[in-house]
Amino acid sequence: MAARMPIISGNWKMNLNHFEAIQLVQKLSYQLDKEDHANVEVTLHPSFTNIRSIQTLLDADGLPMKLGAQNCHWDDSGAWTGEISAPMLSKLQVQYVICGHSERRELIGETDEQVNAKVKSVLKHEMTPILAVGETQEERDADATESKVVGQLEADLAGVGGAKVASMVIAYEPIWAIGTGLTATPADAQAVCGLVRDTVSKLKGKEAAAGVRIQYGGSVKPTNIFEIMSQKDIDGALVGGASLEAESFARICQYRLQG
Ligand code: PGA
Repeated sequence: MAARMPIISGNWKMNLNHFEAIQLVQKLSYQLDKEDHANVEVTLHPSFTNIRSIQTLLDADGLPMKLGAQNCHWDDSGAWTGEISAPMLSKLQVQYVICGHSERRELIGETDEQVNAKVKSVLKHEMTPILAVGETQEERDADATESKVVGQLEADLAGVGGAKVASMVIAYEPIWAIGTGLTATPADAQAVCGLVRDTVSKLKGKEAAAGVRIQYGGSVKPTNIFEIMSQKDIDGALVGGASLEAESFARICQYRLQG
């Protein structure tokens, strides 16, 4: 099995209008060079209204960053007012779609069954799901991290074959660390990312576990990325706040220089 390509993803959440989004990508493109892109895959996840603008920019300037989305619906089309489907995204050259971000699960009430359907739809349309899992502070305090994460993986990957899982990205994001400035220690992040890989191995086989790329997310910054990326089962990071600023996101993507 070839080494897993590191992957750093910028989740912009509900921030930036399309002018600001274009500016951010332009600034980022000045800061990242060929060598950076040879070392790490960089994915950008604008809001839906900005995807077309960013697609046009990446295409016109031949920028090697990959386009991502933050969510999609599980149906291809239909009477779902306000929703966006996977085929609409793939037509815009979106390659990665975050499925089951904790803000959608916790604040909007997305269920594991829905997340599972989204993962399947993203795969069906030949894009890569970034499946997000993670525990709340209460679950962590109750020593329920393992059961929560394993339960999410079982439910969200139900019916997805091992070869497909091998091509996916799974983001472990402890909810208490998202946007709070609190970060799991590199050892704690490794422990749960290792658990994710072991669980994938049990559920989908060794090849799936060897291929799947696992990100850590939750207050990732230029100052903590190197240690996080040094962990054996961590292949990347899902970055919120620090991805909204070109310099900090570029420094995260250049984590190999931060040690
Ligand atoms: P944060 O967000 O980096 O702002 O903590 C991470 C995420 O929600 O993906």
